Amino acid sequence: MDTIADLARKRNYRYWRTITTGKSTGIPHDAYGITVDGKVFGLFGESGGTRLTVEGEEVLITDKTDEIYNIIGGNIHSSGMTTTSVMACLRTLLKYTGIKEEQVNLMMTGGPDGDLGANQIQSFKGKIKLIIDSGSVLFDPDGLDKKELMKIAFARHTEPRLNSLAYPEDRIGSSGFRIPRVKQQFKLPEGTMVEDGTFFHRNFLSDVSLRKFIEKAGINVFVPCGGFKDTINANNVNSFLELFKEVKIIVEGANVFFDDTARDVIAANGILQIRDSSANKGGVTSSSIAEVLPSFLLGDEYERVLVEDTGTKMALVKSVFSIIEKNAISETEMLVALRKETGKPLHQLSIETSEMLIELQMALYSQIDTISKNTSLVEKIIESYVPDALVKILGMRRIMETLNTEHLKSYRDAILTKKIAQIALYRCALEWDHLKKRMQYNTLKTVEELFENTD
Ligand SMILES: NC(=O)c1ccc[n+]([C@@H]2O[C@H](COP(=O)([O-])OP(=O)(O)OC[C@H]3O[C@@H](n4cnc5c(N)ncnc54)[C@H](O)[C@@H]3O)[C@@H](O)[C@H]2O)c1
Repeated sequence: MDTIADLARKRNYRYWRTITTGKSTGIPHDAYGITVDGKVFGLFGESGGTRLTVEGEEVLITDKTDEIYNIIGGNIHSSGMTTTSVMACLRTLLKYTGIKEEQVNLMMTGGPDGDLGANQIQSFKGKIKLIIDSGSVLFDPDGLDKKELMKIAFARHTEPRLNSLAYPEDRIGSSGFRIPRVKQQFKLPEGTMVEDGTFFHRNFLSDVSLRKFIEKAGINVFVPCGGFKDTINANNVNSFLELFKEVKIIVEGANVFFDDTARDVIAANGILQIRDSSANKGGVTSSSIAEVLPSFLLGDEYERVLVEDTGTKMALVKSVFSIIEKNAISETEMLVALRKETGKPLHQLSIETSEMLIELQMALYSQIDTISKNTSLVEKIIESYVPDALVKILGMRRIMETLNTEHLKSYRDAILTKKIAQIALYRCALEWDHLKKRMQYNTLKTVEELFENTD
């Protein structure tokens, strides 16, 4: 990513910093987390192990991750930008269904060696009963040892990454098992033979003969964080549901883990399932507002302000976490409300609302001259998009001067139309036709009303 941006710089592209995200000078979307008391922590790979920072300050570098656990282990609100959105979706659904997170029995695909898997383990407060990752199927109906899992997850930024095979054998309870993903025979509790570990791993999620083990675990939530495309599909979805009868909520961290027929069948069984495109928006939101936007706004001051000044960087990270969480809550609440109103499945509503948003955005583009003439309204909309930390450093006057330049007008207009459409959707999805009519009748007034009470 650095090389590409550097090439753009050498070719004199003025906004070379915006051409890639994930640069070494940027804000990585998988390395930071937020503690319960609102502090930013970071985990980074070093030659001596993992470096833990809190509020940007180095706390320790260690290869003994129980030392990291002792400092932040019991105190993580959410970790990673994508997982922050996944967790916010999950927590909103749990609130809606009246289930306490601490009482959830979770299964996940993807494990402590993955970005989403490691961050899920760090963030989640309930019991984790099943993990299927690149290494094995790891199952314990009494719950896997959270501290041991977290210790492996904290080591994710170091090489080689450790997966579920690093979970200590002696922590697996007598009714649990770990079947490695290797072509070998294994024995399950009660003596059942597994002829081939790779075959077992590949078919685990739809092997109904395993019900006698799974029924003991009471697994009620599934968060896929890795695995193959269409793992659960039209052919095996009924077996999946028969095996995991207690599942009430699915939040798709991983992309395309389910095909649409599977999603339809799952929804018809009353399970609440938030699909990938709604649930895992956090990472891409972070790239947009923690990397691209600051690069446009700060230009050549970027390194001084966001690389050298740790305080500012941490303030920005905090603002970004807060925006991602807020958006994910609004999105989930909107989807749940629409489901209640229309009876349509959540995954279908994710697509429909995306289309509604884009349609409105296109309509707003045709009115952009009218909107952009109202400078105080434009400023209000932009202010609601830009993370607080950047508003504080730069001030709205400078932000507007930068975005109003001829070069950046199209970027500004994209922000304006998208932000208006997003707020309209989150507030008025239930009365969408009415909102559209109001927009057609008097765009400016309707937009003003939408932004009357934005914080
Ligand atoms: N990382 C992000 O910010 C982000 C954002 C949006 C969507 N996603 C999606 O989430 C998924 C995981 O992304 P990631 O960045 O965590 O990837 P990753 O490469 O960091 O981790 C992949 C995980 O999948 C596991 N895995 C590999 N083969 C498996 C199998 N056959 N069955 C079950 N698990 C298996 C690995 O052990 C690992 O835990 C992908 O679908 C990705 O598109 C990730």
